[in-house]
Amino acid sequence: MKFEKCILITGGAGFIGSHVVRLFVTKYPQYQIVNLDKLTYAGNLENLKDIDKLPNYTFEHGDIVDENYIDSLFAKYQFDGVIHLAAESHVDRSITDPMAFVKTNVIGTCNLLNSAKNLWKGQMEGKRFYHVSTDEVYGELHDPSEFFVETTSYDPRSPYSASKASSDHFVRAYHNTYGLPIVVSNCSNNYGPNHFPEKLIPLMINNIKNWKPLPVYGKGENVRDWLFVIDHARAIDNIFHNGKNGDTYNIGGNNEWKNLDLVHLLCDLMDEKQGNPVGKSRELITYVTDRAGHDLRYAIDASKLMSELGWEPSVTFEEGLSRTVDWYLNNWDWIENITSGDYQKYYTSMYETSAN
Ligand code: NAD
Ligand code: TYD
Repeated sequence: MKFEKCILITGGAGFIGSHVVRLFVTKYPQYQIVNLDKLTYAGNLENLKDIDKLPNYTFEHGDIVDENYIDSLFAKYQFDGVIHLAAESHVDRSITDPMAFVKTNVIGTCNLLNSAKNLWKGQMEGKRFYHVSTDEVYGELHDPSEFFVETTSYDPRSPYSASKASSDHFVRAYHNTYGLPIVVSNCSNNYGPNHFPEKLIPLMINNIKNWKPLPVYGKGENVRDWLFVIDHARAIDNIFHNGKNGDTYNIGGNNEWKNLDLVHLLCDLMDEKQGNPVGKSRELITYVTDRAGHDLRYAIDASKLMSELGWEPSVTFEEGLSRTVDWYLNNWDWIENITSGDYQKYYTSMYETSAN
């Protein structure tokens, strides 16, 4: 079958990537979608089992850090576009193992940029390299009236955000130096189905269900701006097709929550859905040692994306969170499969030294 375009999506077996792959494979049967993923602890092909037999979907198992492999993949498929999500994505892991973040997030991104530059040399028309990044590159906010805009200076404060900031700079440098057609987006915290249970929301759902302590870092006063993952995927689709060459777009749901308030909400929602007396799960809340260098507040101003490209979130937080909790409760074997083995060992060692 002849396709109109061949698009590489990296990290498509992960949380956000799997939603982006599903959206593109089902919405654009005229595109061949190649999902390249190393299948680290965070990558799970189960996330795509509903679409993996479709004729326009192909999976490639590989590592973006392997330069020769990436070159050969570009030669094999002659990609017209790249949507790059593959990354090490967890701040806590970046504190214990920063070099893994340098390798995948910085060197891996540069390998993809080099292969795209070499393949598209002299014929950049119609090509696009889309780099998916995070709001964490902007650092932390203190003044409640302040929001991250696209021109906010970079001030990454964790090894994770520093590695993402570095990759963002390389993407823009390849645009400026070699004319590589690029777009970058910086998104706030996502939540939704298929989120690995090391991140706040799925970790709390998992621990409430298993009646385990709910580790709240510090006093739970840090603020995050939460967006439903399907709305992030919709924004990526919009920006990939309509974004201006060389531009950056902030993506966010204008939905700020203090961690402790969000944990309370999750406890009450889980109590309600599991038929427990509302308030019962709050007993599990345990204050633990704060994360080193813990950013106080992230908050995105997404007005450029809304006014220029007409994007807006499709679900309220109330609806998105309820759908998320339902998804976990109805797909409990998904979480059970991944919360065994290495994952368990990692978390046991991480929390055994936590103090109140
Ligand atoms: P994730 O950790 O769930 O998934 C990452 C995926 O990348 C996994 O499937 C993993 O196997 C794959 N991967 C990791 N290293 C690889 C390598 N060397 N080669 C090939 N594949 C590799 O991450 P996520 O939360 O889905 O985030 C996806 C992207 O979105 C990341 O770039 C992240 O920085 C960005 N982002 C995430 C959030 C969020 O809230 N999760 C917010 C904004 C931006
Ligand atoms: P996380 O989901 O790791 O995302 P990020 O650090 O990228 O924002 O954490 C979200 C917030 O929740 C962050 O302020 C740290 C906090 N947190 C806890 O309090 N307890 C936890 O067990 C986890 C994983 C996070």
